[in-house]
Amino acid sequence: MNVIVRKSKIPDSLPDFFIWHGKVEKFLKTLEKTFPNEKIFDLVISSPPYNIGKEYETVITQEEYIEWQKHVIKRFLPFVKNTGAICWQVGSHVENNVLTPLDSLFIPVFQENNLKLRNRIIWHFGHGLHETKRLSGRYEVLLWYTKTNKYIFNLDDIRIPQKYPGKRAYKGPKKGEYSGNYRGKNPTDVLVIPNVNSNHSEKTIHPCQFPIGLVEFCIEAFTNPGATIFDPFMGVGSAGAASALFNRKFIGCELKKDYIDIAIKRINLANTNDLKYRPWKKPLYDPKQSQLSKKPSSFK
Ligand SMILES: C[S@@+](CC[C@H](N)C(=O)[O-])C[C@H]1O[C@@H](n2cnc3c(N)ncnc32)[C@H](O)[C@@H]1O
Repeated sequence: MNVIVRKSKIPDSLPDFFIWHGKVEKFLKTLEKTFPNEKIFDLVISSPPYNIGKEYETVITQEEYIEWQKHVIKRFLPFVKNTGAICWQVGSHVENNVLTPLDSLFIPVFQENNLKLRNRIIWHFGHGLHETKRLSGRYEVLLWYTKTNKYIFNLDDIRIPQKYPGKRAYKGPKKGEYSGNYRGKNPTDVLVIPNVNSNHSEKTIHPCQFPIGLVEFCIEAFTNPGATIFDPFMGVGSAGAASALFNRKFIGCELKKDYIDIAIKRINLANTNDLKYRPWKKPLYDPKQSQLSKKPSSFK
């Protein structure tokens, strides 16, 4: 399956894997002209730039930043299907050790647009900076919104093993029967998935990739096979790779050619099932297995 890349015109028939090389703002304007009034996206999933001075962004004021993001969100929403979802993954701004959680800025924007917040998912990971003036941050947030009350939630596809599958009801009409769901339990709104640090098998040159497993979770839970996934700020195409792995279509926008080239490679590898990635359900590495976990005898 070919990944089609364009800088200006959108093909009259949307390819299964399409990348816009340029600003998402221009893509959405072109989409408005090419497919006016069409509902295209089943899931919009993105980790937008955080406005913290990464190599791909120029820092602007917080007001300018949120106005810009508001503009992008307002423009893609008409293309989201009525059964569709939006997953917005954000961290925090930190200035002089003062924290602004970005979801606190985005929630009013989504509310203004009448979207329905279903979960504020905590994505917990084990690695990061060791702070000395405040607690070290070990989570970011993924806001899951739906456009209407008629939405997709494939709970059975994301169940995880129960703690006590052998537990039985001890009273009532079901006394003696297994009390849990034999298919597993609800995974809850806390996901523990390693972040893409330098040792991660998915690591590329991009400084802020999100793990494919995080997208895998959202795709499985909130869309059905054949769905179209859109990432307005796709970076190296982690959402595109996840779409290919799980039989979904993908549209992404990105400014940097280097990232697009990597995204194409990852999507192609995913399409032939040759991409190395870490599934979200894979058990975490137990650090006690490592020699490094032994406390040196010289430590008091
Ligand atoms: C946080 S990164 C996303 C990384 C992505 N989730 C991944 O796993 O690779 C945000 C990306 O948005 C891109 N970007 C910034 N402004 C953009 C714009 N106006 N239109 C499209 N992409 C943009 C940046 O180049 C950057 O790669």
